[in-house]
Amino acid sequence: MNKGERWIPALGLCLAILLGCQPAAPPAPGGQEEDRAMNLETSDFGTAPGGQAVMLYSLTNAHGLRARIMTYGAIVVSLEVPDRDGDMADIVLGYDDLAGYVADNPYFGAIVGRYGNRIAGARFTLDGREYRLAANNGPNHLHGGLRGFDKVVWSAEPVRRSDAVGVKMAYTSPDGEEGYPGTLTAHVTYLLTNHDELKILYEATTDKPTVVNLTHHSYFNLLGQGRGDILGHELQILADRFTPVDDTLIPTGERRAVAGTPFDFRTHVAIGARIGAENRQLAFGGGYDHNWILDNQDGDLALAARLFEPTTGRMMEVLTTEPGLQFYSGNFLDGSITGKDGAVYIHRSGFCLETQHYPDSPNQPEFPSVVLRPGETYTQTTVYRFSAR
Ligand code: BGC
Repeated sequence: MNKGERWIPALGLCLAILLGCQPAAPPAPGGQEEDRAMNLETSDFGTAPGGQAVMLYSLTNAHGLRARIMTYGAIVVSLEVPDRDGDMADIVLGYDDLAGYVADNPYFGAIVGRYGNRIAGARFTLDGREYRLAANNGPNHLHGGLRGFDKVVWSAEPVRRSDAVGVKMAYTSPDGEEGYPGTLTAHVTYLLTNHDELKILYEATTDKPTVVNLTHHSYFNLLGQGRGDILGHELQILADRFTPVDDTLIPTGERRAVAGTPFDFRTHVAIGARIGAENRQLAFGGGYDHNWILDNQDGDLALAARLFEPTTGRMMEVLTTEPGLQFYSGNFLDGSITGKDGAVYIHRSGFCLETQHYPDSPNQPEFPSVVLRPGETYTQTTVYRFSAR
């Protein structure tokens, strides 16, 4: 190589750095895939109803996995991962444009807050004072209320690490918003790592005692969004017990053993294998819509669930620091939503695995506490890790 030829790649590298690209990452585990440079791009994604500009962050890791995340609702708009032949598919449900999310979104891809899942009777008492919330799900409060964290515009900044690209989102919820006490300052960082993980780091602080339970609400379909139902996916949940519910999906307070019930996912079972079984709990949920009490309760990051889709070979592992996992089998999807690329979201064409504290914890003192006080920091970490076999 003469001197001139050596300059060309060097110039290319400088250009890549100037454009915000990262140098190539270490080889993929197993070395079977060619590594590319990670990439992080931002673009406009429209204007929210309040007039705020919405930005889209497009993250690509060294193996070509790509996540697109927008500042409205901190929503994961798309997530492309390979199957066993290396063919990419977008494995989360959603809409092509912002208007779709604003008009009619059953929480596709969103960060849910201040409180993921239900609070009974849309009220709770903290330090002797009662707080009233919106009853937006029958008599109960669901997913933070009428305008929860899924419907606000977050501020965002890009994150570049040696092994990941990401976006750090921030939202300050004013004291009293949606009826909750205290100014809550929340940060959510999404990282797409070169270990093929979508990692979500949450943090929140408050200036008055309050309750908080943040979660992520992607609807996954490892076949690819719009490619049928999820009943053939094999699921494992590392939990011996779950929290049975009443007919409005509020936990009764019981911690019931999964053994001998359709809720036993301690070894891999197809989601559809027992979903139609004669079972009161399944009838209440219209399928699975329950919180599992994860075996790991010590707050360390640990495996919570595994998903395997046999025809494509796609695998997803879920790791979390949270004590609970809401498994929702997309029972309310009924074909009335047309999503990305004209896909019709038929019954059970996506599932959610929401890592969180248990539903209705503010009213159930025997559940792990969701109270956050001034001076404390709420944290949670969840990892969705992808592979194929
Ligand atoms: C809840 C479901 C609800 C869905 C969409 C899930 O987290 O458990 O009951 O229908 O979110 O709103």
